[in-house]
Amino acid sequence: MRTQVGIVGAGPAGLMLSHLLHQRGVESVVIDLRTRQDIEETIKAGVLEQGTVDLMTQTGLGGRLHRDGFVHHGFNIAFSGRLHRINLYELTGGRAVTVYAQHEVLKDLIAKRLEDGGDVRFGVTDTTVEGLDTDRPVIGFTHEDQEHRLECDFVIGADGSRTYTRFLIREGKVRKDFFRQYPFAWFGILAEAPPSSDELIYAHSDRGFALISTRSPNVQRLYFQVDPSTNVDDWSEDRIWEEIQARVAGAGATIKTGTIIRKDVLQFRSFVCEPMQYGRLYLAGDAAHTVPPTGAKGMNLAIADVHVLDRALGAFYDAKDTGLLESYSETALKRVWRAQHFSWWMTSMLHRFSDATDFDLRRQLAELEMVTGSPTAAKTLADNYVGLPLV
Ligand code: DHB
Repeated sequence: MRTQVGIVGAGPAGLMLSHLLHQRGVESVVIDLRTRQDIEETIKAGVLEQGTVDLMTQTGLGGRLHRDGFVHHGFNIAFSGRLHRINLYELTGGRAVTVYAQHEVLKDLIAKRLEDGGDVRFGVTDTTVEGLDTDRPVIGFTHEDQEHRLECDFVIGADGSRTYTRFLIREGKVRKDFFRQYPFAWFGILAEAPPSSDELIYAHSDRGFALISTRSPNVQRLYFQVDPSTNVDDWSEDRIWEEIQARVAGAGATIKTGTIIRKDVLQFRSFVCEPMQYGRLYLAGDAAHTVPPTGAKGMNLAIADVHVLDRALGAFYDAKDTGLLESYSETALKRVWRAQHFSWWMTSMLHRFSDATDFDLRRQLAELEMVTGSPTAAKTLADNYVGLPLV
């Protein structure tokens, strides 16, 4: 088999790149270990930056997004006894975020790729990549009991945080990893309940952080900070609702409870690998970097990576111009580190650290006063939250 761009991983990065390349007439094949059902049903975050929404809309993926997504012109931070609203729309000159779950984006991308005749193979095994130092790398894999050798011009490593492709770049000599672990996790629930708030609430409290988000008028997504060793089965429904309520009560918010349909624990880490390219291998999305969930940058960053990569591959195929491919890693890493800082900043401003002193607590509150009280600081928060323009 031959294709122009071989893509390992059918997540947001891999599928979106395949979609964008198709629109410019470049062929690709996407492979993934997971089944289509697994990809379409795994629950992740649900906040799309303005740039992600615009790109989806401009490339024919806006149908369900605009019908079922919710545009949020602001969000709230709860601290010191009340809600403080960040007016995203005014602070950013008319930009906003859209609440639309990541697995819904994936359903839209898969449907569109298949409708456009795209080659996406689910449930593959035995993936190998060879010849990255040549201009004919080969991806080997088994699909439906048949072994395949896929010759490509380029290989894209978009295989998520449990990546195989990242490790093809030798650590030490070429690759350097940057890593930070946080001493807490989020307990996440999906609940059949009415929304507790028109807009998201990020809550700072003595008991730790909580986040009130939504999915639809009937399904809500809520999170609260816990110890990383937490077992979801140790928490009864009543205890979960009481804990979330206790964390927002000080700010005057009331949680509308309902039936919890899913419980999970999300680990917190920050990770970046540099460079994001080696020979004919280009990494995109979680294969190259992970952010802690606060601020919901993960998928948006994956989309931003492949937006750069699509233009770079376009310049190569249109004009044999390799300049943008050569600068891909540097260009992508600028935004990656911006998002790393932002996610770390939101996390450290809002969470309770077990070794925090009273001084640390007062300093956190002073920072929250600044980002909600100073228009300049609020604008920095808002610009980053809605997402800087795609380059
Ligand atoms: C959601 C997740 C986040 O990490 C966040 O900052 C906001 C919303 C969500 O899943 O809805």
